Amino acid sequence: MSLTQIAIDTLAKNDRGGFTIPTAGLYPYQWNWDSAFIALGIATYDMDRAWAEVTSLLEGQWPDGMIPSIIFRSDDPDYFPGPSRWGKTPGPIPSTGVSQPPVLTTAVMQLTGTGSNRDTARRAEVFDQLFAYHKWFHDNRTAKGIVATVHPWETGRDNCPEWNIGLDLMQVAPDLAPYTRMDNKHVDASFRPTQEQYDKYLTIIQFGQSVGWDQRRLTEEGPFLMADPNIHFILLRADKDLLAMARDLGKSADVVAAIEGWIAKGEAASDFLWSEELGAFTARDIRTGAFSKGFSNCSPLCFYADTGTPEQRARILENLQRIASKVDYMLPSWDPDADEFEPQRYWCGPVWPQMNFMVAQGLAETGEDTLAQLIRDDLCRAIEKSGFWECFNPLTGEGCVGKNFSWTAAVWLSWQH
Ligand code: DGY
Repeated sequence: MSLTQIAIDTLAKNDRGGFTIPTAGLYPYQWNWDSAFIALGIATYDMDRAWAEVTSLLEGQWPDGMIPSIIFRSDDPDYFPGPSRWGKTPGPIPSTGVSQPPVLTTAVMQLTGTGSNRDTARRAEVFDQLFAYHKWFHDNRTAKGIVATVHPWETGRDNCPEWNIGLDLMQVAPDLAPYTRMDNKHVDASFRPTQEQYDKYLTIIQFGQSVGWDQRRLTEEGPFLMADPNIHFILLRADKDLLAMARDLGKSADVVAAIEGWIAKGEAASDFLWSEELGAFTARDIRTGAFSKGFSNCSPLCFYADTGTPEQRARILENLQRIASKVDYMLPSWDPDADEFEPQRYWCGPVWPQMNFMVAQGLAETGEDTLAQLIRDDLCRAIEKSGFWECFNPLTGEGCVGKNFSWTAAVWLSWQH
């Protein structure tokens, strides 16, 4: 059977009726940014079903505009922390209390096409909800003028060494309620975050619950507050797509001006994330200003967001060339020259399909075609070697963590079509 057919079958097996889970067992619910990539993959063969992926995700939106990272339509004993651990949340469906990188608007832009064939009816159907989602980030997740994050899970890059700076500054809650991890029952513990990291992830959840998931309090008073290049660049790109959508739909001057303001704020914030020492955009602790110490696979998303000075972009390209000489498969999630590099441990090294997708897109859009092609080809080689895994060892191309993974299938389909 062709890999394209296996990809379609993978998405069909992970379909739970109008929404798609990332993979059975390990992640049995609808995840926010997964669904955006999944929609792009399904759109290559079934546009109506792809659109349902978007609208089902929007069903979980909170009254304040947030779209949570996970929507719990059931209570699956195989997953921890599920709905009972997150407690009562204000959305229409039980959910987590944090969000995820807001790639949805850019996915909607791509799904609804360009030129005279664009689907303005579908754009109009979701515009207000997308606007409310972006507004939520700018109103509730901004600290010192920078869009921040309050939980490594919100960044989508759970145990990337970038977060150690913020995690080292916090203490595990002395009254942390006991719990049993389920992730390590599904996959080898060497692929996953450490126990200390999990205790801190759960400590942040306990804090969120203690303030009734008041999102401003979580941002201002919570135990963890960092700026994330992944959320930053993805939101900046999405704000630019939202602005194009607003103009196309003839939205009011107020709406257009609000989005223009967010973009101006985002452009200025890119410099906050720039580490001159590394020649990279990195995560930064908002309270102390400390920079992380490595080049990650979201550093090059400046091209995707079309931001950064020519000098900054040149240094990012130099870093990409250096890293390409150290690994067999681009693009590792953490710098192979940095201390905490581990080629198979989740966000400490593995290649992530959705990141290669966005980085390659940004590089291609800004004329860096050779690198864009390398980043696409390397992921395709890893898939051809190992199948549709969640992520891949950048030294060997072996699959890591979850199998039969939806966004890997979706990225393959998006590129093969
Ligand atoms: C997990 O459970 O590992 C997820 O990444 C949380 O979003």
